[in-house]
Amino acid sequence: MSAIADPVEALIEDVGSAMEDGLLPAQVFNDPKVHQLELERIFARAWVFVGHESEVPQPGDYCLRYIGEDTFIFVRDEDGQIQVLFDGCRHRGVQVCRAERGNASHFRCSYHGWTYRNNGELIGVPGYRKAYKGLNKSEWGLLKAAKVESFMGIVFATLDEEAPPLDEYLSSAGFYLGSIWGLFKDGYEVICEPHRILMPVNWKTAADNFTGDGYHTMYLHKSQFDIGVFDFPVSVVMAGYQIHHQYGHSTCTAVIGGDDDPPFYYGFGPEYHSLMEGNELSEMQERIARRTALVIGNIFPNLSYGVVMTTPDSKNEPAVPVVALRQWRPRGPAMTEALNFAFAPRGVSAEVKAAMQRSSLVSAGSSGTIEQDDTEPWTSMTKAAGSTFVRKVGMKLNYQMALNGIGTIGEVEFPGPGTAYGPERYAENPQRNLWAQWYEYMSQRTSNGA
Ligand code: FES
Ligand SMILES: [Fe+2]
Repeated sequence: MSAIADPVEALIEDVGSAMEDGLLPAQVFNDPKVHQLELERIFARAWVFVGHESEVPQPGDYCLRYIGEDTFIFVRDEDGQIQVLFDGCRHRGVQVCRAERGNASHFRCSYHGWTYRNNGELIGVPGYRKAYKGLNKSEWGLLKAAKVESFMGIVFATLDEEAPPLDEYLSSAGFYLGSIWGLFKDGYEVICEPHRILMPVNWKTAADNFTGDGYHTMYLHKSQFDIGVFDFPVSVVMAGYQIHHQYGHSTCTAVIGGDDDPPFYYGFGPEYHSLMEGNELSEMQERIARRTALVIGNIFPNLSYGVVMTTPDSKNEPAVPVVALRQWRPRGPAMTEALNFAFAPRGVSAEVKAAMQRSSLVSAGSSGTIEQDDTEPWTSMTKAAGSTFVRKVGMKLNYQMALNGIGTIGEVEFPGPGTAYGPERYAENPQRNLWAQWYEYMSQRTSNGA
């Protein structure tokens, strides 16, 4: 234990030193003070996913989105620019946007009626001449996220002026994200409104899982293989590489084919190949996409991504690849709202899109089966982490798979960038990397002293 007086700072230091030995104090999965500091030191610094450009195709289209626990309006303004506006009126802070999604040229506050254009500009103040003559409206627009950038249509924002450019932040994870999101010449479009699940779990239980936990698949999800939701043997899941990147990101990729084998392209078979013609994948991205059956990973802190083949009805429907983004929206130390987005390549038929939507719902939706499997242990982890006993004895969790001679898997050469372990996915290097990044942010106070 550290000699630092403040218990939460001591706990953070404990995470940094324990993780060098592959150990993690369980308490960090459910602690109100840790959670508050995560909002300040992680979510107010990192690049956080806010939406996909195809969700707001027309001027005025908007969705409410969340950075940490704060609400922002993700909107395309009248000039076609994407804006990420804080949803708080400049007069008294009241929420100016009350619907999760819609189209609006203006947002009007319900309290005193201040009115903002969809680029954030303040243009209307009731009783202006009597009440506010002399007020410079141009100084009182809605506040904006410090920086907004798009990676192949995936829009991220950061609240930190000092954050590195998005490309630098994504680091080598951008290579693998690009091999998915650049596979089709015209990209992807969102299929439907994100499916939402409220889970009594800490957001990190889910991020930790998607960062690298192939290990649970063959056990927790065995029934999914038995009933055919996953249209491939479990050996496919465990074959491949776990690759970690700077800033805590990961890519777990089932690379199982040789260069001369028929291409996998994450499950996108010959019927999709014409839509890939003319894409701008690099030679190495193309080579890896050809050989990859499925991929899962996490962009730190709370955006998971993947492409997995599933079917809602193994007897009557062929499996289809589902390109997914999944955001773990924190709603307190022991509550998370999962937003599950499914995407289709632009240009596929309405029938194919509908099949992808059904497959997405059966896998990741609240009425589906796979996420129901996962939610139970994540709930249990969160409950244990908040227990008196865990605090009393300082219980540590084991993150030692493939560390210092434990297990048989080690670091290997891999054609793509990043640090790869393989050729089977019996390693916890991506999770250790996530926790190293967690420590990196959490051990530094913010400029406002949090
Ligand atoms: S709080 Fe919005 S107009 Fe007063
Ligand atoms: Fe799972």
